[in-house]
Amino acid sequence: MDMVETLKKAGIIPVIVIEDEAQAVPLARALVKGGLPVLEVTFRTKAAAGAIAAIAREVPEAVVGAGTLLTPAMVKAAKAAGATFGVAPGFDPVVVQAAKDADLPFCPGVATASELSQALTAGAPMVKFFPAEAAGGVKMIKNLLGAFRFTGVKFMPTGGVNLSNVGEYLAVPEIVCCGGTWIVPKDALKAGDWAAIEKLAADAAAIARNR
Ligand code: 3PG
Repeated sequence: MDMVETLKKAGIIPVIVIEDEAQAVPLARALVKGGLPVLEVTFRTKAAAGAIAAIAREVPEAVVGAGTLLTPAMVKAAKAAGATFGVAPGFDPVVVQAAKDADLPFCPGVATASELSQALTAGAPMVKFFPAEAAGGVKMIKNLLGAFRFTGVKFMPTGGVNLSNVGEYLAVPEIVCCGGTWIVPKDALKAGDWAAIEKLAADAAAIARNR
């Protein structure tokens, strides 16, 4: 899959922290129905691999990736579960190599010019800018682009992005998409409130469509 194109088309990527594997399929269906079919399931919980496998198996309209991949073992587990892309909050050349070895399209994280430079050297086609708001937000990305635009680098800002500021990010052409947990709030997930999550996805999707 062409990771950059797929993420660009979606515009906004729900970042999912799931504790109960049984919720994966109804959650993915609600997000797809709301208009956000590209999902990042973070490897922060024990349910992550099972959730990815269930979505890959039962929700063919969704494109499921794995987030918070911090080690080669996590990369392997994500690939085995059926993730079609991987994301990390930071840049670690060992993990980037593991993703290459596993043939998993991969988006490492950066927050500084030095990390961005290393990620480009490692061959990353795009980077997660994390934690976006705390690390300087749109202003920081625009400043980084001043030096790096000619490389063709593309960004996925995540961390503190929400419905009120996502439009500002998506207005920057080099920003492929934004990620965020606001579309899948803990309480709504716990309650299995799929209608609420579908509505949050629809509100986000409307902004992504109008970029
Ligand atoms: C991530 O994992 O990408 C971030 O923790 C998401 O940040 P947010 O909760 O501010 O959206």
